[in-house]
Amino acid sequence: MLMVGPPGAGKSMLAARLPGILPPLEPAEALELGMIQSVAGGLRSGGLTRERPFRDPHHSASLAALVGGGPRPRPGEISLAYQGVLFLDELAEFNRAALEALRQPLETGRVSVARAQGHVTYPARFQLIAAMNPCRCGHFAELACGRAPRCAEDYQGRLSGPLLDRIDLHIDVPAVAPADLALPPAAEGSAAVAGRVMAARARQAKRYAGLPAGRAIRTNAEADGALLDEVATPEPAGGALLARAAERLHLSARGYHRVLRVARTLADLEGAAVVARSHIAEALSYRRMKVLREADMPRG
Ligand SMILES: Nc1ncnc2c1ncn2[C@@H]1O[C@H](COP(=O)(O)OP(=O)(O)OP(=O)(O)O)[C@@H](O)[C@H]1O
Ligand SMILES: [Mg+2]
Repeated sequence: MLMVGPPGAGKSMLAARLPGILPPLEPAEALELGMIQSVAGGLRSGGLTRERPFRDPHHSASLAALVGGGPRPRPGEISLAYQGVLFLDELAEFNRAALEALRQPLETGRVSVARAQGHVTYPARFQLIAAMNPCRCGHFAELACGRAPRCAEDYQGRLSGPLLDRIDLHIDVPAVAPADLALPPAAEGSAAVAGRVMAARARQAKRYAGLPAGRAIRTNAEADGALLDEVATPEPAGGALLARAAERLHLSARGYHRVLRVARTLADLEGAAVVARSHIAEALSYRRMKVLREADMPRG
């Protein structure tokens, strides 16, 4: 997910709430994470934890710190975030080479780093959550910036198309109006949301339980190819919508499959057996279509 919004809109605050809605690690996952921590030299005496990792490296982090490697190769943040969240705040401020190096692991859930002799591969299946301002001064949407829209094009242009194509959920986080802050807090707390997440995860675990050991997976995120087609084929109206959208919006093949995967998860959150047109429509609404949307452009 990528959250874009002006300063103080609550992006970092939202991300900090994420650990509160993540389900605990499965025992096997906890073991795998423990092995990674141990290789990285960071397994504390307390041993294994069922808590999902939440890693938030600073934007000055080096390529090796982020993806692993270095003179004495070690797993990086993307491996330490195994089966949890890697939060990159101020995404556009990160080193470009480090961001590009996320592309392979985002696709495969693994990362290969070069060593003196050959390569070493670390597991790197994580959820990327990123946040950024729309432009350098941060106020593009309010049009308070004298350099709009060029400043936003320059700033968002620091992220490559292939990286953005791998991000399923592009979310605008608008500034909070002072009047809204005075309203009573939302009725639903993190615990209720966590319950929905757990239920959706349980549905997925059940769906994939019968797979042969070599191809064992637990979540929609890991479903690919024929398996994804089998579990996420939408109802006919949804299929037609996706086909039309793919053509009009020039979705890449990757984008097409990613929409299907997100739609499957939206259906799971609702407890729906079949992916409906509404799930496809919602999944499409989260995909990024171009750098700037017309609605964001200054008038006149
Ligand atoms: N929806 C909200 N409800 C209540 N308080 C909020 C909300 N959004 C922001 N705040 C307040 O604003 C503060 C700043 O929010 P936060 O640091 O998350 O902004 P940000 O979007 O990350 O900004 P920046 O782009 O400058 O990093 C929060 O600590 C909180 O006090
Ligand atoms: Mg912030």
